Amino acid sequence: MTSTTHTRSARFDLRARDLTPGGVHSNVRLGGPRVCFDRGEGAWLYDIDGNDYVDYLLGQGPSLLGHAAPAVNAVVAREARRGSVFGSQHVLENEAGELFLDTVGWAERVRFGLTGTEADQAALRLARAATGRTKFVRFEGTYHGWLDNVLVTSVDGRIRPASAGQLAHHLDETYFLPYNDVAALEKAFANHDDIAAVIVEPVMCNSAAIQPRDGFLDEVRRLCDRHGSVLIFDEVITGFRVALGGAAEKYGVTPDLAVYGKAMAGGWPVSALAGSAALMDQLTAGVVHSGTFNSSVPACAAVIATLTELRQAPPYERIEAHGGTLMRKIGELGAAHGVPLRVQGLPVAFHASFGDPRTIHHHAELEAIDTAGYAKFVEVLVGHGIWVAPRGIWYVSAAHGERELNAVVDRLDSALAAETRVRRTAG
Ligand SMILES: Cc1ncc(COP(=O)(O)O)c(C=O)c1O
Repeated sequence: MTSTTHTRSARFDLRARDLTPGGVHSNVRLGGPRVCFDRGEGAWLYDIDGNDYVDYLLGQGPSLLGHAAPAVNAVVAREARRGSVFGSQHVLENEAGELFLDTVGWAERVRFGLTGTEADQAALRLARAATGRTKFVRFEGTYHGWLDNVLVTSVDGRIRPASAGQLAHHLDETYFLPYNDVAALEKAFANHDDIAAVIVEPVMCNSAAIQPRDGFLDEVRRLCDRHGSVLIFDEVITGFRVALGGAAEKYGVTPDLAVYGKAMAGGWPVSALAGSAALMDQLTAGVVHSGTFNSSVPACAAVIATLTELRQAPPYERIEAHGGTLMRKIGELGAAHGVPLRVQGLPVAFHASFGDPRTIHHHAELEAIDTAGYAKFVEVLVGHGIWVAPRGIWYVSAAHGERELNAVVDRLDSALAAETRVRRTAG
């Protein structure tokens, strides 16, 4: 880190607030530190004040190959000379589709889109059409996009719409269950015969990176089969990240439909809905899914380049080693400074907060750890050149190596020393 001032970022933010609500183009960015970045390269970000940051947010996950990965961007730049969208097929679509399906391994058809939010909606619509039922099961603490039927917050342990203007009755479509609780799902199926689908983040990366207990996903699969419901994996975070074939490969459980996004296109905006031919071909028999920019030339080029790179040089062992060491170091450094830093999750996507180090398995247990205190500490981390999300998730990329590990450990050590000084003064 060459400087700790943020004067230019602050000036930029002032102007931005005149142009766009809150100065940002996604509500997720409203909270937390404001930094205006000039560029990203590999695992590093550079802001307009001349500060550098080791990045463990990766744009909320997409940059699995690091920022501006040359292997991806060169192909996108070359192919974009063809144009972008033609309102018909183009020459890269089949290659992208074949590579995608071959990499995922279990699915027979794919539709490309732009965001995870819309692909989740298409999955739910397909499930309703296939079963003739209306409702779906989801789990407390998962995120499936920002639309009315899936956007929730939890107030005093009760699920509520998260946005003003949201049609609250759309949430009536949902049965909310605790994650990792097979008995609760059995009971829901026993009591209701209108469950079209069970949608699940196979790892709850949006809630403390809680992992599925042994056999949980198998049981969800078994119950969906028994009750004729569609099993949807929301692999927007886990896809291509936890394994080349995503969570379906890692946990050995095959869904009926799955939604992908983030890591599948090296930082470019692409999502995908994939599944069995029987389900997906309903898109030619009455179920609607559209999008002007779906499967654009740059999108297909980005998918082809990213998946080719991931297949030719799988980074998963390196990422696992880096993330595993980092998780251990975070715990050790916290202990050395007397700060109760805790981590849990997978090395490729783990969660940090303050509090009781015991692993938590349910969203409700988040109350037992100090996520708010950690969110404040993130400002200290950012001031010391570590870019992470206030909500606690740390993403590791293929571009994180020895240099980044040394830098983050050094910077975390200094940040914790600063945190300890503040705590001492306050105490
Ligand atoms: C599991 C999951 N599903 C869906 C979404 C929505 O994806 P997008 O932000 O691309 O609309 C996200 C976004 O973070 C996510 O984490």
